[in-house]
Amino acid sequence: MGVLTLVQALAGFSIIVIAVLIPLEGETGSAAAPLSEGKSSLSDWLIESIISGLPDAVIALDRDGRIVAGNAAAQKIVLPLVRGTPLSLVLRNPDVIEAVRRVATRGRAERVEFYERTPLDRWTEAHVVPIALPETMAGERELVILTLHDLTPLRRAEEVRADFVANASHELRTPLASLSGFIETLQGPARDDVEARERFLGIMKEQATRMARLIDDLLSLSRVELKENVRPEQKIDLVAVVRQVADSLQPLAQERNIVIKIDCPSEPLTVYGDHDELIRVFENLIDNALKYGVGGKRVDIALVRASKDEASVTVRDYGPGIASEHLPRLTERFYRVDVRESRAQGGTGLGLALVKHIVNRHRGKLAIDSAPGEGASFTVRLPLAI
Ligand SMILES: Nc1ncnc2c1ncn2[C@@H]1O[C@H](COP(=O)(O)OP(=O)(O)OP(=O)(O)O)[C@@H](O)[C@H]1O
Ligand SMILES: [Mg+2]
Repeated sequence: MGVLTLVQALAGFSIIVIAVLIPLEGETGSAAAPLSEGKSSLSDWLIESIISGLPDAVIALDRDGRIVAGNAAAQKIVLPLVRGTPLSLVLRNPDVIEAVRRVATRGRAERVEFYERTPLDRWTEAHVVPIALPETMAGERELVILTLHDLTPLRRAEEVRADFVANASHELRTPLASLSGFIETLQGPARDDVEARERFLGIMKEQATRMARLIDDLLSLSRVELKENVRPEQKIDLVAVVRQVADSLQPLAQERNIVIKIDCPSEPLTVYGDHDELIRVFENLIDNALKYGVGGKRVDIALVRASKDEASVTVRDYGPGIASEHLPRLTERFYRVDVRESRAQGGTGLGLALVKHIVNRHRGKLAIDSAPGEGASFTVRLPLAI
């Protein structure tokens, strides 16, 4: 009954099957690292054995809130985890300490959630459950089992999802508001103004294109994310892909007075890839270099066999460059150094997020190197198809 109660306490409502070998009285257990101090009884050994294999941090406490046993995960959170030490000395969270005290006196399980700001943002869920061990196990004992479950990854995912919805709606609302405004103007004051109508229709077309692009990019992003763990199987020549993209962006380069220079080996660089996805990668990198590297007059693209099993493509511009604090965030969805400039260029801030996911799917790496005033270079490394 005691073991079963303990297992139920640890497992919540899910079912766990644990095989427990009970040693003869006097034998010492080896399944869990023993706590550093104090006298161990058979029931302590049994508790340590059971909790040692659990992934969450689990601490067994006596009715006075003193530590009886703890597993390896608990030792990472509660330091030092020493048998006999009051929990209040090592876990400085009044809500949890209070819950342990209440559970020890009232005998009813409780759940507490808490947030810590230091050393890092961290959300934790604590389950405090009373258990009773039977007399056969070194005298009747009542314990309190504290389980600490890290909620941080879940909370982060919730935050990312909420941010994403907020950003996507905001990005769509801006062109939509402008479209509605122009429709009203065309229905009202500018009804008979032919010249204004032509101008407004031009702007409306631009806004509609922007919305369509945003939706396309969002769909591409979610498609790539869905198949990120499925590696593409087509054999693709990177040299041909990069040349095709550079040719298609030639008009934009000319418009901006920028010369695109391609340096590549004479033989093909073949990778396993998805042709359209690789086109998107280099389209965005070269498009960025042309859009944000203005004033540099030049964009250099270098394709090399970086090692015997890796190809690398570097797109380098000689524009204003990017300050170091932005570099780690550039591949986040909707992240832009200068939102107004990006919007003015028709950007949605999804390009590099898409690049990162496509490169991940291809088991490659993206490196960004830049400093203010020194241009920027974006390098994609992809494993060669051998
Ligand atoms: N070569 C570059 N030089 C300077 N800044 C850059 C460069 N490439 C990207 N950036 C910065 O990174 C931001 C994110 O780039 P990303 O390609 O993800 O979005 P975008 O170009 O704004 O929009 P989209 O790619 O959807 O058209 C850009 O808004 C810009 O601020
Ligand atoms: Mg871009």
